Amino acid sequence: MSRALTPSPSSHGSGTPHPATGLPSGSLAGRVRVPGDKSVSHRSLILGALSLGETQITGLLEGEDVLNTAKACAQLGATVERIGEGHWRVEGVGVGGFRAPDEMLDFGNSGTGVRLMMGAVAGTPITATFDGDASLRKRPMRRVLDPLTAMGVEVVSAAEGGRLPLRLRGLAELSAFTYETPVPSAQVKSAVLLAGLAAAGETVVREREATRDHTERMLTHFGAQVQVEPFGPHGRIITLKGRPTLTGAPVVVPSDPSSAAFPLVAALLVPGSDVVITDMMMNPLRIGLVTTLLDMGADITILAERTEGGEAVADLRVRHSRLKGVEVPPERAPAMIDEYPILAVAAAFAEGRTTMRGLSELRVKESDRLAAVADGLGVCGVVLEVQGDDLVVEGAAQVRGGGPVATHMDHRIAMAFLVMGLASSEGVAIDDTTFIATSFPTFMPMMRGLGAQIA
Ligand code: S3P
Repeated sequence: MSRALTPSPSSHGSGTPHPATGLPSGSLAGRVRVPGDKSVSHRSLILGALSLGETQITGLLEGEDVLNTAKACAQLGATVERIGEGHWRVEGVGVGGFRAPDEMLDFGNSGTGVRLMMGAVAGTPITATFDGDASLRKRPMRRVLDPLTAMGVEVVSAAEGGRLPLRLRGLAELSAFTYETPVPSAQVKSAVLLAGLAAAGETVVREREATRDHTERMLTHFGAQVQVEPFGPHGRIITLKGRPTLTGAPVVVPSDPSSAAFPLVAALLVPGSDVVITDMMMNPLRIGLVTTLLDMGADITILAERTEGGEAVADLRVRHSRLKGVEVPPERAPAMIDEYPILAVAAAFAEGRTTMRGLSELRVKESDRLAAVADGLGVCGVVLEVQGDDLVVEGAAQVRGGGPVATHMDHRIAMAFLVMGLASSEGVAIDDTTFIATSFPTFMPMMRGLGAQIA
């Protein structure tokens, strides 16, 4: 097994914290390409493992979350090899072909990894134990266990409230199922669809608000029959024909808009900046942040729009801008769910008030992000209010900064507040940078290469 299949022990949160400070910085400049998309990276490994034959992946995100998924696929019997930087090869075992793992499957910090793999394992008659770090052990798993058990999976054991660590027993043939997701979650939708691969008949997922559609697109790419229809004003119905033969297929992973969000907002906030972010995925279900920032008056030019590996991609030129506060509607949340921490930072520098509505799902991410963002903004002297599930930020031309901001094992809280420090008057200290490695291992050198002062 290659070195890269062994994530660092820090993914358990037991390591020594590494504090850092984002310092007031001069103008940022340069061209950067952020690493591969985390959602597509997880799915490329999982679908490769569920296929027969070879899947070659290029541009894979080599962050801890994805490496944990790679390791789990290998524990379940797939051959997973690193050929070169971002270039991986998976030899799959086919739907229903996983073998029982000798040891528990450890997903570290990753909700996507564990929830999708529970769905992938569901259609094999094996028993497997799923676990993760202290953050992942706090996160709700019933949202996935409920539909999977309705399809026939047995929960052999689970921690209180259906949380990790938990043990599942799959079945060779699951019941086809029609499920309306009670929360807008691509992870829940994906777990049900992956389980549906082992069901005779059609598995149908209805979502009232459309969430990222990488699983549907990639299932089709690997040979499954998937139909997508509209459902109400914002939703979709996805129908999967069970028992397909999935065949290994090449995957080109586009770069991650949720990672690009950090240099993008940094360039908007630091005076004099002019940065180009290349090859960013522009899937409409992922770019709610760009829509919102354009509403706020951001100077973002979308260049060289094209399609690569089945996804829309573009280069973005971003220049320092004087932003103004806006209302962000709740129906936009699924298209920017991971971007609220960095949007809240942008809002702190905007003229006037920004109201972000319908953020209940932020409470069940790697941390309670609504609380973590509110606390961090408060520590840095920003005026804000949490009203139920809405966040209201009063912008100001100058943000003092301060700290240390508590990051709660959450990569996006860490990166958002380091970016805030670059445009603040006194800098922003955070308590730990360790978890940045889960999604954006090159964040520090990339930001410093643009001119960011991070000590
Ligand atoms: C993801 C879905 C989202 C997102 C997460 C990645 C995915 O979670 O927050 O970072 O790859 O499916 P939910 O499905 O829980 O909203």
